Amino acid sequence: MIIKGFFRTLIFSSLLFLVACNEPVNETSATPAAPTSKAKLTVYSKVSERSMRKMDIYKSPTCGCCVDWVSHVEQHGFSFTTHHPTNLNQVKSELGIAPQYRSCHTAVTAQGYVFEGHVPARYIKQFMASPPVGARGLAVPNMPVGSPGMEMDKRFEPYQVLLLKSDGSAELYANITHPGQQ
Ligand code: CU
Ligand code: CU
Repeated sequence: MIIKGFFRTLIFSSLLFLVACNEPVNETSATPAAPTSKAKLTVYSKVSERSMRKMDIYKSPTCGCCVDWVSHVEQHGFSFTTHHPTNLNQVKSELGIAPQYRSCHTAVTAQGYVFEGHVPARYIKQFMASPPVGARGLAVPNMPVGSPGMEMDKRFEPYQVLLLKSDGSAELYANITHPGQQ
């Protein structure tokens, strides 16, 4: 009985993961509902700041966690134009993101900076406030459980935010060891 229960839990958590990442999402559902939260009101009052935070996002049309990440960054004042290229990896190659730094989606700012994967909005803001010399952007490779857009109950997997450099290499930008750092 105990073993049966264990397998049931295992299967259930695997299903949760699949649903989080592969569930086809109606694009219109990505649009936030009425601006009720305090954060939203603050966002609408900072029009000029908002216009500086426009990005293009490249993702798969069936990616559920991508939509959840977009909601996260929208709550922090960014706005997006969404693209669904037929070959997402080709887009990443053209942007100079090496395979080991890739995740599900890629965001590109008007200035050409790149934010790959589930990067928390606060690090995007920190980066944009003073982009390091020779930097291409930031990346959170793969899809760490508990990162913005990858919420699964209270689970959290420590991860690193990497600084992508113009020469194609990367270095540590932030070590995320607990959810409060996000
Ligand atoms: Cu994802
Ligand atoms: Cu994504």
